[in-house]
Amino acid sequence: MNFATRYLGLNLASPFVVGASPFCDNAHLARKLQDAGAGALVMRSLFEEQIDPPPRIASPAMPGAGGPEEFPEYADYQVSPDQYLRQVGHLKQVLTVPVIASLNGQHPGNWTDFALRLERAGADAIELNFYRVVTDITVASDQIEAEMLDVVGRVAGAVRIPVAVKLSPYHTALAQLAVALELAGAAGIVIFNRFYQPDINVNDLEVQTHLRLSEPEETLLRLRWLAILSPHLRGTLAATGGFHTAEDAVKALLTGAHAVQLVSVLLKHGPAVLSSFLRGLEAWMRAHGYESLDQFRGLLNLKTCKDPSQFERANYIRTLQSWKV
Ligand SMILES: Cc1cc2nc3c(=O)[nH]c(=O)nc-3n(C[C@H](O)[C@H](O)[C@H](O)COP(=O)(O)O)c2cc1C
Repeated sequence: MNFATRYLGLNLASPFVVGASPFCDNAHLARKLQDAGAGALVMRSLFEEQIDPPPRIASPAMPGAGGPEEFPEYADYQVSPDQYLRQVGHLKQVLTVPVIASLNGQHPGNWTDFALRLERAGADAIELNFYRVVTDITVASDQIEAEMLDVVGRVAGAVRIPVAVKLSPYHTALAQLAVALELAGAAGIVIFNRFYQPDINVNDLEVQTHLRLSEPEETLLRLRWLAILSPHLRGTLAATGGFHTAEDAVKALLTGAHAVQLVSVLLKHGPAVLSSFLRGLEAWMRAHGYESLDQFRGLLNLKTCKDPSQFERANYIRTLQSWKV
């Protein structure tokens, strides 16, 4: 059975990629994940705020925002930029699968130059994560998107290795944006960032955020957008968010993913779960007479599935009409 896939122009022996997380902080654990069947590993993110620390002087509150954001101090981050570069080099010595570094930012700035240092340290690709919560009512969506395109252009223009963009689902015209990001230099799109939503503690009257691992229901949003984007992109797509079983992964491949990133399921069950993903994928492929991923990737995307309206507005109307009391 052939599980090979091409993701970001890299040849991976398996479509299961360890998503950005602390796993790569430990080279021994990273090696275990590779040996259990990971096709590539994404390192935790290095943040714009670490590379280009924002000024600490108080600035006037932005209209519509609560005030200047308080980011962690330099020492509060688990890995410094220099340690990160050393870890890229270390992982490259220990692993044979591609190592993908992750840069996480929002504004165009000097931090994007760090991409070249990641490439020189040995990274095989860069995943650019745009995690942005826009609370400023004077900032319009076209400005945000122009800044994203600027950042992608800067990073992709500075390095020869491929650059993936990890997106949030909260964009007005996501399909157009994904195509524009490709034109700006992205070799792939990763969907979607999970937003860690703050909750309200009604006893202490406080706002609190906990890191909750994902739930399988979260895959449905990803599958819909894989299906919508896959016919239009020339580059590759990765799914992230809620993929906990081989069946979930098969659905991602059927809607057009080239790679499926896993984090929560690995944190819960450890590296051995990768072999159950591979066994499950093999069993499904055998049952359906497929020998390679290329034979069925994208078979159920918006262009190729029998009923594209399932992914569109008509499905929403039909679904609401199906409920009777
Ligand atoms: C403990 C932890 C740390 C994470 N760190 C990062 C990170 O540094 N950068 C990033 O882009 N995503 C990070 N993520 C998000 C994951 O890469 C992934 O997109 C998300 O967890 C959804 O995938 P999952 O359902 O397989 O967990 C992290 C997730 C967890 C649980």
